[in-house]
Parts: sequence; structure tokens; C-alpha cells
Amino acid sequence: MTINEHGTCPVHADFDPLSPAFLADPFAVLDSIPRETPVFYAPSIDYYVVTRYADIEEVFLDPETYSAAPAQLPLARLVPEAMQILLGGGHKPQPSMVSLDPPAHTRLRSPTARAFTPRRVAEMEPKIRRTVDQLLDAIDPAAPFDLVSTLTFPLPATIIFSFVGIPERDWPQLKEWCGHRAALAWGRPTPGEQLHHATSMAAYRSYLRDLVASKVSARGDDFASALLEIHDEAPEALTHEEIGSILYSLTFAGHETTNYLIGNVVRRLLEDPARWDLVVSDPGLIPGAVLETLRHDPSVPVWRRVTRRPVTLAGVDLPEGAKLFLWLAASGRDGSVFPEPGKFDVQRPNATKTLAFGRGIHYCLGAALGKLEAQIALEILMRRFPRLRLVEGQQLSFHANISFRGPEALWVRATP
Ligand code: HEM
Repeated sequence: MTINEHGTCPVHADFDPLSPAFLADPFAVLDSIPRETPVFYAPSIDYYVVTRYADIEEVFLDPETYSAAPAQLPLARLVPEAMQILLGGGHKPQPSMVSLDPPAHTRLRSPTARAFTPRRVAEMEPKIRRTVDQLLDAIDPAAPFDLVSTLTFPLPATIIFSFVGIPERDWPQLKEWCGHRAALAWGRPTPGEQLHHATSMAAYRSYLRDLVASKVSARGDDFASALLEIHDEAPEALTHEEIGSILYSLTFAGHETTNYLIGNVVRRLLEDPARWDLVVSDPGLIPGAVLETLRHDPSVPVWRRVTRRPVTLAGVDLPEGAKLFLWLAASGRDGSVFPEPGKFDVQRPNATKTLAFGRGIHYCLGAALGKLEAQIALEILMRRFPRLRLVEGQQLSFHANISFRGPEALWVRATP
């Protein structure tokens, strides 16, 4: 890796988080970066990359200096036609709460947190168990199977879509739109692909607007209806358009994040069968295995911010408007916080310190639900297939985007 000076900031000219080498093994790239450059500029994406735990935490905890605005901005420059399609479809550059700053952020986060009650999350538990069992019932354990298409992909979609109140007939369509959204905002699509993704996102937004309108007169015991009740109390405090934006957050945030989390947990445990066997013999270690995966190989490895004023971070002077690539996965490998960071240890005492869910005012609203889904999936999988093993010799592939990472397929067999 070459280093040049860019003002007071080192430049890593060949750092590219969408290169095949990075996608295949980002931790090998991390290991090749000199420790003396914990913040560096990456021309391939026009972002400043932040790698140390303390610096990322500092950014998360200071929303006055670091705005969340770029959280969902397309990483690649969009062609004007794609922009027009998005704007015409009512899409905004800061489309939902995760990329808004206070007070606009608070306006959406407060009612969401109110409707996303611990009771509603706890009530999901039987549904999660039933869904895992049904999905595993459909597997033929005599043959190798892909755990992603059979379990980790359909489970979170089923849970979040039914939680929100999306009719089941529309789930496949929504799943497809979510894929377009990930590729457009966090990948590097060609101009032709951009048009296709943008058209899908406009359709996605319009679908949610219609859903909110249809629920006004046909309420259910679901999250969308709970938001409508909050709207009824004070219509100007939470508009229908804003409810659509909240649904836009949850239908996406509750899906790939958790799909990849479960895939990463199973992969990391099976990589060394002794780890899997240890947790099978003591299911009390399951929550620790999930947390350790979030530290060691998080499903959201990168999140973004932009500076609102000139500021010095890790000794580097950043101008106003500097876009930051917060490398959460690197923060989990920071040896000053996590001793022996490369070691996967389901009993690591401080794995809870992971920054995988962010920190501060945008801290992930679905953290409890995502962890619960992963724990239940692992518990039932281990009970039904205690001797599960990876199919040897498989080459894992990862979707080409910066912020959602987990195996696209994970082939396993139920018996050695
Ligand atoms: C299980 C794996 C998950 C991971 C690793 C994850 C990670 C994250 C991260 C990194 C953020 C941004 C934090 C920041 O900007 O400071 C975030 C925000 C958010 N997450 Fe998650 N998430 C997960 C699951 C979920 C689920 C299941 C849901 C919904 C049910 C969800 C809903 C949200 C929402 C609504 C926000 C925005 C909060 C705000 O801006 O105030 N997430 N998540």
C-alpha cells in the first residue's frame, strides 16, 4: 500500500473497499495498513477512512461536529437521469432518520422508539421460533444445503415485514427492492444499473406511501398501525409522509443486517469446528457467540458521517465537508480495546463494547431484535443439527457494497 501526503493527512492511493481483494478479505487489507495512519484519505471513494475504536466512538458521540447526512448517499456519483428518477419518486438525499441530524432526526426517532416497544419485540419471540422451525423443516438434511437461502435470508425478512404489517404477498417484491437499494447507495453500479435501481427505489417509496394510506382505515396489530395511532394524537407531529419514511428505515434496516449477522456467526463458529462443538455443549454461550461475531466480523462493517466544521481527528486536520468512512469492522480489531483482536473468543469479556450498532443518538433501534433473531436461529440450528459442518472447499462470495457484509451463500451439511 502506497502512502502520499494529502495536506496533513496520509493518502492510501490503492485503498478501494469495492475491489475484489477487499471484498474477499477486508481484514488482510486492514493488516497491511500501517498503525501510524489511523485516519487516511482514500481517493478511490473520496472519503477519509477512520479505523481506531476511540476515534470512531468520538465521531459517533459528537453529532454537532459530525453530521449523519451521508449515511445513505450513493457512494458512486449518480448519472442525472438516475437522480431525476429518484427525485421524481419523492426520494430525498436524506431519506430517513439514520441520515438526519437533530431536530429532524428526533422528530422521527421518538415516535419510532415509542411504537417499537420492548413488548412488541418480546412478542416476536414465538414467531421467530416458529419461523426458524418451519424454514428448517423444509430442508433435506441428507444432502448439503445453503444456509443463506434456506434460513438466514428468509428469516429476518419474514420477521420484520410481518412486524411492520406488510401483506405477505408483497414480501418478494420488497426483498427485491431492498437489494436495489443496497446496490445503489452502498455499491458502485454502472449508469445502466443506476437507472434500474433508481426506478425500483421510486416504486419502493411509492408502495410504502400507499401502504400507509391503506392502513388508515384498516388498522392491524402491527408497527405501521401503532405509528398511525401516534399520528392521530397529534397529526402535525408525525405526518403520513414521515410514517412512510420510518417504514422505509425499518423494512430495510431489519433485513440484510440480520441476514448477514446470522451467516457470519455460523461461518465463524464452523470455521473451527471446536468452536461450534463448544457452543453446542453449552448453549449458554450463544449470546456471547453473537456478540463476538459483531466485534470480529460485523454485518454492518462501515457507516458514514461528514464534518460540519474544520476539526482535528487523530492528529489529522479535516476540512468542513470531509466525508468519513467509519470502519466499524476495524474498530473491532483495535488491540487497545480488545486484546488479541484476531482471536475469535465466544467468552470474550468485553465483546459488548462493540461499535457494530453505532453509538449515541443514532444507536441501532433494532439491536435487541437483531440479536434475538440470531440467538434463536443458532439455538434451534444447534439443537436440530448439532454435528453441522461447512462443506469443504467452497469459495465464499460477498455482495459488492461497503456497508452490508456476510456470505451470499454458506453451504453446510448436517452430518459429518
Ligand atoms: C442485527 C444486525 C444489525 C446491525 C449490525 C445494525 C447496525 C446499525 C448501525 C451501524 C446503525 C447506525 C448507527 C449510527 O449511525 O450511529 C443502525 C441504525 C439503525 N438500525 Fe440497525 N442494525 C441491525 C439490525 C437492525 C434491525 C433488526 C432493525 C429494525 C428492526 C434496525 C433498525 C435500525 C434503525 C431504525 C436505525 C436508525 C436509528 C437512528 O438513526 O436513530 N437495525 N443499525
